[in-house]
Parts: sequence; C-alpha cells; structure tokens
Amino acid sequence: MNNTIDKKRVFSGIQPSGQLTIANYLGALKNFVQLQKAGTECVYCVVDLHAITVWQEPNELRNAIRHAAACFIASGINVEKSILFNQSLVSAHAELAWIFNCVARMGWLNRMTQFKEKAGSNRENSSVGLFAYPTLMASDILLYHATHVPVGDDQKQHLELTRDIAIKFNNDFGVEFFPVIEPIIEGNATRIMSLRDGTKKMSKSDRSDLSRINLTDDKDLIAKKIRKAKTDQYPLPGSSEELENRPEAKNLVNIYSALAETPTETVLNQFEGKMFSDFKPRLAELAVEKISPITSEANKLMSDGVELDKILENGAERARKIADPIIRKTYEIVGLKTKS
Ligand code: TYM
Repeated sequence: MNNTIDKKRVFSGIQPSGQLTIANYLGALKNFVQLQKAGTECVYCVVDLHAITVWQEPNELRNAIRHAAACFIASGINVEKSILFNQSLVSAHAELAWIFNCVARMGWLNRMTQFKEKAGSNRENSSVGLFAYPTLMASDILLYHATHVPVGDDQKQHLELTRDIAIKFNNDFGVEFFPVIEPIIEGNATRIMSLRDGTKKMSKSDRSDLSRINLTDDKDLIAKKIRKAKTDQYPLPGSSEELENRPEAKNLVNIYSALAETPTETVLNQFEGKMFSDFKPRLAELAVEKISPITSEANKLMSDGVELDKILENGAERARKIADPIIRKTYEIVGLKTKS
C-alpha cells in the first residue's frame, strides 16, 4: 500500500546534550558519512526534544544544537546531499510519538536498560519524557519510513523496540504501513569505552571530563587525556583474544584501529610487545591528526550561527516534505481528523 516502503532510506540522530565526543564520531558520524558517500538517501537529525528529557540550560541547549549541527558538517555531512535538521523544527516527531505512546506497552518500556541506567536510583523523580524516550525515537525513524538506522551498540534495544512498535501498529490497524527497520551496528567502534574505566561506555554525560575526548578539545587536551587514560602494566599482545580481559587496553587499541581504519589485528602486529608509554604517544598523534581538523572546522562554522540556523531550517523544510504525508496518512489510519 505504500510505495516508499521498499526504498532504502537511512535515518539517525544525535542528542545535543553536552559536547559530542570521539565515541559519537567513531560510533556514528563516521558511518553516517560512509552511507552518504555510498549514495543512500540519508536523513540526519539533531534530536533536541530527546535532549530535554533531562534538564538542559536553555542558552546552552541553543548553542549545543548549533554545535552538534556543526560537528555533522565538519565530519563530512554534505547538507545538499543529506538532510540535516533539528527535531523540534518538525512538529510531526512529537505528534507521531504520542500515537506510539498509545501503541507501545508499559511492559516494553519498563524493560529498557538505558532508562534504568539514566534514571538510576532516582526513578520516581525522572521525567515522564525520559521514560517515553524510546517511543519518540521510534517516531523519528518511522516518520520518514526509514529502513536502515546506523547507531552505536548502546542503541540496539531502542531499535528493537522501534521494530516492535512498527509491527504492532501494522497489526492493530491491519496495514503494512511502517517498515520493520534494520539496525546498522558495524565496525570496531560500536562501543567505545571511558578513558578512565574500560568497563563503562564513553559518554557525553560522564562527570569526569578526562573520561572522554570531546569534539571541542584542542590538541594539547587530546594528548593529555590519552596520556592520562587508564591502562595496565603489561605490554601489548599479538592477538585480540589476549585483550579480552584487559578492558582499558582493548579500548585504546580499538580507538587506534577505528581512527586508522585498520583491523585490530594489524594494529597489534604493529605494536606487539610495546608498552603503553610507547603506544600512547602514537595514539595521541593519530587522534590529533584525525580529530583536530573536525574540531577546528566545527569552531569555524560556529562563528556564523545565523548560517547554521539557515542550514537547519532548510533541512527541516526538506524533512517536512517527507514527513507530512506520512503523519497525515497515520492520522487517517488511526481514525483521527487531519487538516485538509
Ligand atoms: P546519543 O546522542 O547518545 O549518541 C549518538 C550516536 O553515538 C553513538 N554512541 C556511541 N558509539 C560508540 N561508543 C560509544 N561510547 C557511544 N556513545 C554514543 C550512539 O549509539 C548514537 O548512534 N537515542 C540516541 C539518539 C536518537 C536516535 C534517534 C538515534 C534519537 N532518535 C533515531 C537513531 C535513530 C542517542 O541518545 O544517541
């Protein structure tokens, strides 16, 4: 019944909550650029409505939305080829999320590990938005009838829920309207860990700034954070199996391999037997070489906020052209009235 359903379309998003990190770059942005290069239709979104599920200072949020957009562009997103916009400019995201709130079950959301992690022991005091976060995420994707969603490993469960919502909606209403999406979770950077604790994911919201490399850090700070990264006292092994019980070592090797775009085994062949005192300066050099051009390009783009806003508005206009017929059709399927 829907002719857009067979077409490959990529959707993904990044929250403008705090500074983007090297993990967002290696786990997401770099893949977004690859998909764009492959000629796939891509819709990329700065998900500001998701960001406010936890408190954001309004002025900082305004700035963070622009900075996230600047990081997309500085990483290689071409705003002529791909659509780049911020979520709050397309009101249908919130409208479809409401409908999905009525499709998804409490039990499904209760199982979301990311809510449990984010809410922690303060569950009763979390926002309702934080609990319903995954239905808004499903709406982001399905509003465009996207078929493929590139993300890091931490988003896997949310994407399974998106599939469940699409299937239940289609079943409940006897339609084949929403596509059952395919996650794209590929490469050796799907789970970059904290530089301070190799068992914890690197995160924009970690209290310790030393735990991550931000896409705003200058060369000296990048080098310092790598110098201070937690490691162990053993030399680097010759094979990746031997890294299994060495989370910090494994993480640094993974970061090197993702930045250098070479397999882990090749990195280990090169550094086998070396101590971290030898490896870290090489990693710092590589990180500076790959990350600093993005940081400085993003800074340059940030000097013209008006231009960035214009880019986001243009992107939103293109996004609405795809989203409007889909939200109208959704209303019709559900039995709601739509504006003519
Ligand atoms: P967010 O903003 O936390 O992260 C953005 C992207 O970066 C990936 N990522 C990582 N990859 C590897 N290692 C890490 N330590 C790491 N940390 C983050 C994330 O997996 C993600 O791909 N819920 C999403 C945003 C979102 C979204 C969407 C994504 C909202 N709607 C629709 C895809 C489709 C999030 O919080 O990402």
